[in-house]
Amino acid sequence: MKRNYDNKVIWITGASSGIGAELARQFEQAGARLVLSARNVNGLNELKAKLKHPTKHLVLPLDLAKSETFVGLVSTVINEMGSIDVLVNNGGVSQRANARDTAIEVDREIMEVNYFGPVALTKAALPALKKSCGQLIVISSVAGKFGFHLRSAYSASKHALHGFFESLALEEKDSLCLTMVCPGKINTSISFNALNAKGEASQIIDSNHISGMPVEKCVRIILRAAGREKSEVLMGGKEVLAVYIKRYFPAFFRVLMRKQKPA
Ligand SMILES: NC(=O)c1ccc[n+]([C@@H]2O[C@H](COP(=O)([O-])OP(=O)(O)OC[C@H]3O[C@@H](n4cnc5c(N)ncnc54)[C@H](OP(=O)(O)O)[C@@H]3O)[C@@H](O)[C@H]2O)c1
Repeated sequence: MKRNYDNKVIWITGASSGIGAELARQFEQAGARLVLSARNVNGLNELKAKLKHPTKHLVLPLDLAKSETFVGLVSTVINEMGSIDVLVNNGGVSQRANARDTAIEVDREIMEVNYFGPVALTKAALPALKKSCGQLIVISSVAGKFGFHLRSAYSASKHALHGFFESLALEEKDSLCLTMVCPGKINTSISFNALNAKGEASQIIDSNHISGMPVEKCVRIILRAAGREKSEVLMGGKEVLAVYIKRYFPAFFRVLMRKQKPA
């Protein structure tokens, strides 16, 4: 492993649930000191209390749609924890609605939470990250590699993350390393929390998410890739194959995707 996370300060957004909560558990096992951020403070406190060394970690409520708070939050992390070694831009929201039905306000909200939020937080944390020759881990999606039914704004927000963070990583290559993570279907509450055309939580659990990759396995793959400083990692089921089919057989990819049912 190129990276050792022992005693490192790792800031995880979206830590109240799913992949973020499991990242907290596994990074703690690797010896890290954690900053746990999301909107659901009770969920963050419950997670912290269940970790092995709760006093090592900081709960820091954060709304990714409120970027005006980020400079102050970065100062809090530096004052309380001393440094920022790793920022995991994980928090995000999905979508379950056709583009034609989705209110433009909902498109903007998804872009704010999934794209502008991580971008603004990274800019605020950048001086501290560069000082510690730190690492950015960005949770994108296979939907950041190709568009899919009912995911127009979500897919756009994830594509945008690749453009921004790959550019940033080039500019800061001497003092920052980047791992882009592209999960396929992982068994979390993502579909339940996904926004419908009006911007409300769909409250529907997709059956193919329940049968998706267990979150523990997904996070083990993320930690291994980040530890090895891989620039990109994909994980999930057969949906991940579509990324390679698109790259090498684009015409066949289009035929294949048109046969997929919206889900
Ligand atoms: N599960 C999958 O199949 C899958 C596949 C590809 C990519 N991903 C990506 O993985 C990441 C984590 O998703 P998950 O699967 O773990 O889903 P999840 O269980 O719904 O977790 C989403 C997390 O994002 C946080 N979040 C949502 N809106 C936020 C906001 N405005 N401000 C701050 N935090 C916010 C939520 O916390 P609060 O509600 O407490 O704020 C929650 O902790 C997301 O970026 C998602 O796009 C997931």
